[in-house]
Order: sequence, then C-alpha cells, then structure tokens
Amino acid sequence: MRIGVLGAGDMADALATQWARKGHDVRIGARTPAKAVTLAGRIGHGAAGGTLREAAAFGDVVLLAVWYEGVHDALRQAGPLTGRVLIDCTNPMEPPFERLKTHDGPSAARRIADATGARVVKAFSTCHESVWRMTPPVFGGRPLGVPLCGDDEEALAAVRTLVSDLGCVPLDGGGLERAGLLEAATAFMVGLWVAGEDPASMLPPPEYAGGEPRRLPQDVS
Ligand SMILES: NC(=O)c1ccc[n+]([C@@H]2O[C@H](COP(=O)([O-])OP(=O)(O)OC[C@H]3O[C@@H](n4cnc5c(N)ncnc54)[C@H](OP(=O)(O)O)[C@@H]3O)[C@@H](O)[C@H]2O)c1
Repeated sequence: MRIGVLGAGDMADALATQWARKGHDVRIGARTPAKAVTLAGRIGHGAAGGTLREAAAFGDVVLLAVWYEGVHDALRQAGPLTGRVLIDCTNPMEPPFERLKTHDGPSAARRIADATGARVVKAFSTCHESVWRMTPPVFGGRPLGVPLCGDDEEALAAVRTLVSDLGCVPLDGGGLERAGLLEAATAFMVGLWVAGEDPASMLPPPEYAGGEPRRLPQDVS
C-alpha cells in the first residue's frame, strides 16, 4: 500500500515506522519538509519525505497526524483529498480532560470529513504513541484492539489491514457518526490514566455486558 503521512511528529514516526517495516511505501509530509526528510531517513525501508501536498498526493491511504489546532492549516497545505482514504488519529482534547475542543459541535473526524470530502476513518487515537511502537502491542496475552469508525467499506478494509500489520485487532466501532463518542471516550480514559486509575478494570467481559452472562458466538457448537 502507498501511505502518505501528514505530519512528522511522534504519531507519524510510530505508525509509519511500523508500516514501512511491513513493506508499505511511505511518504512523510510536513510543513517544514526538512523535518519530513529527517524522519523518513530514520524510518528507512525506502521511506521518503517532502511537503504535505506531496505526501497527500502519494498515498492510497493518508494518515493525518498533526495536533488538532493545526488540522485546518495542514489540510489546506495538503491540497485536494476528495474521495481519498484519510485516517484521522487526532485527539481534540487537552488537560484536565473535562471537555473536548469540539464540545460545541461535530466531532473532529466529522469536521475533517466535511472539510475534505475524504473517506475518513477514525483510528489509532486511543493509545499513546509509545504503544503504537510496540512489536506487537500485546497486554496480558491479548493483542490490542483498535476501534475504527467510518462509513466507507473500502476505506475501512484498508485501515483494518494497517491495524493487523501492527499486530493489533480491528474493532468495528460503527459509522463516522460514532467518532465523537470515541473521541469523548478517549478523553475520559486518558483522564483516568492521568489520575492513576486503570480504565481497563471498568470493563466486564463481553458475556457480562448485558447483565446476565450469555453465550458468545464462539461458544455455540
Ligand atoms: N502523541 C500521542 O501519544 C498521541 C496518541 C494518539 C493520538 N495523538 C494525536 O495525534 C496527532 C499528532 O500527535 P503527535 O504526538 O504526533 O504530535 P507532535 O509530535 O507534536 O507532531 C505534530 C505534527 O503536527 C505538525 N503541525 C502542527 N501544527 C501544524 C500546522 N498548523 N500545519 C501543519 N503541520 C502542523 C507539526 O509540525 P512542526 O514539527 O512543524 O511543528 C508536527 O509534524 C495529534 O492530533 C494528537 O492528539 C497523539
């Protein structure tokens, strides 16, 4: 797959390094192209660096990995993205995680979709960049689940492949309308982590989610 990356920071580094190792063709783009060239050199595996516009034009899939405040500017520099597969990993949040920067309107993912006309998939926003660098991210014997929210099946299929390439498991998070719930849930979880709590401990196993234990599909013979 050809992957264009908008941004040359930590998330770009973490995810693009993994995908390049898996044999994908990576092009990093940044508002300061020299930063993209430096990151591409560090990634190796044929990765190249340049402008945001070059990275956007290159990718079958484009990863948007800039801070939420820079999204508008980065997309303007990236040029047309209509109909393209665009992964949104942004988190419109900040300490003390009491409200989202988007609290007065649509989700970040919806705003990005409306601004570009791209086939947006919300993904990879739920964990710290250090987790995406793990090979693979497995905790207590379980591979990390990665929720995806999007409306376009072809785009979702491409992002599922990229999730699997990290050694993670794609989770069906529903359509893009649910991306706002994911953004809020992430901010809530991060607030718990920052407070020293373990968000994983609040989730019962799926068979208990509806109250009474129930049989899961894999239990039915
Ligand atoms: N870090 C994490 O653990 C993590 C986890 C999940 C999701 N995320 C989300 O992922 C996104 C990227 O985070 P990061 O940690 O990779 O950030 P980062 O290391 O600070 O890198 C941010 C990138 O955005 C670029 N940028 C900022 N403002 C811009 C603008 N106006 N126009 C063009 N480019 C601009 C920066 O360019 P310059 O170098 O030129 O400033 C840099 O390349 C954020 O939305 C964040 O919420 C982060």
